[in-house]
Amino acid sequence: MLVSDDVWHSEHSPLVLKKCWLETEDTASFLFAEQNRAQFDFKAGQFVNVSVEINGKKEYRAYSISSIPGDKYLQLTIKRVVGGKVSNWLIDNLQPGDQLNTIGIAGQFNLNDCQYGQRILLLSAGCGITPVMSMARTFLSASSDIDIDFLHCARDHNNIIYHNEIKALDEKYKNFRCQFLLENALDENEKEPEQLIGRINKEKLDLLCTDWQQRTIFLCGPTAFMEAVNAVAQQANFNMSHFHQESFIANTLTELQAPSVEGTTEKDVVSVVLPSFNYKAEVAQGSTLLDALEQGGIPIIAACRQGICGSCKCKVTQGKVDSLPADVLTEAERNQGWVLACSSTVEGDIEVSLS
Ligand code: FES
Repeated sequence: MLVSDDVWHSEHSPLVLKKCWLETEDTASFLFAEQNRAQFDFKAGQFVNVSVEINGKKEYRAYSISSIPGDKYLQLTIKRVVGGKVSNWLIDNLQPGDQLNTIGIAGQFNLNDCQYGQRILLLSAGCGITPVMSMARTFLSASSDIDIDFLHCARDHNNIIYHNEIKALDEKYKNFRCQFLLENALDENEKEPEQLIGRINKEKLDLLCTDWQQRTIFLCGPTAFMEAVNAVAQQANFNMSHFHQESFIANTLTELQAPSVEGTTEKDVVSVVLPSFNYKAEVAQGSTLLDALEQGGIPIIAACRQGICGSCKCKVTQGKVDSLPADVLTEAERNQGWVLACSSTVEGDIEVSLS
């Protein structure tokens, strides 16, 4: 990572939007700079945690960076989410000259911390293309001789993010080959003769990247896509030490299956107490700890809401919660009672501390 003085520090200065444009009808790219033109220091594949105020309430989200480490511009590409709050707000409201506050860059899915061989497969679907695009741009701009197969899955031809740039990279670099797998053909007459249609499976992967089993795989995309690729890799006895994936998309809160409050009987209600805030809430057993704290206005930061950034870390001092695996916590922290509020459900009466 960079160490010079003109490096951007997220906690000191906000991002300033220089330019934005539509990539597809529901996806927009935003190009930010720092006001003193500092360089952006991160590892290719990481995400930035942003905070925005919407209707008087601070909201936090994590977005993968698609630009190159060390550059003076930082690119985020954001897709609309049905019923989503922050992504839709950013696309509808952010204008050149506006500032965006951030609370740090993080993520272990990156080129510095993941091991890889001489041949790699960057495999993505939908907006999962953003971190692997940063990886491809980083390798190619450094004239790396790493051999890159870039396979991207999209709904149709019109929904391929960075389409022209990817095709231009394919033409320019001998060590970069791109392939697209589309769910639907828009128009049979316009379809390229070689274009494969359908969803990812072993047969299609074998056709689109014949030597995928000899490559290091970097994978990012929606949950169903990630699960399909994981299943193919496991059935093929793929060496999973060469398999890296961005887990904040796969590790969704829906896995927690929190019951709705309407379905709660009296004996299912449990209490969450936060002595330092003089706070006590009665919540449905199985609610996420984050919901239990946010409903009382407790100022807990939750940037990714999916168990990866670590910003919602808090300590359970009495009682017990059920938690999904959390790589961002050390074993010592877990033993001391630290949990991620976004990835933990309240199963009985508990007492919690934020520090
Ligand atoms: S909000 Fe990121 S880990 Fe919980």
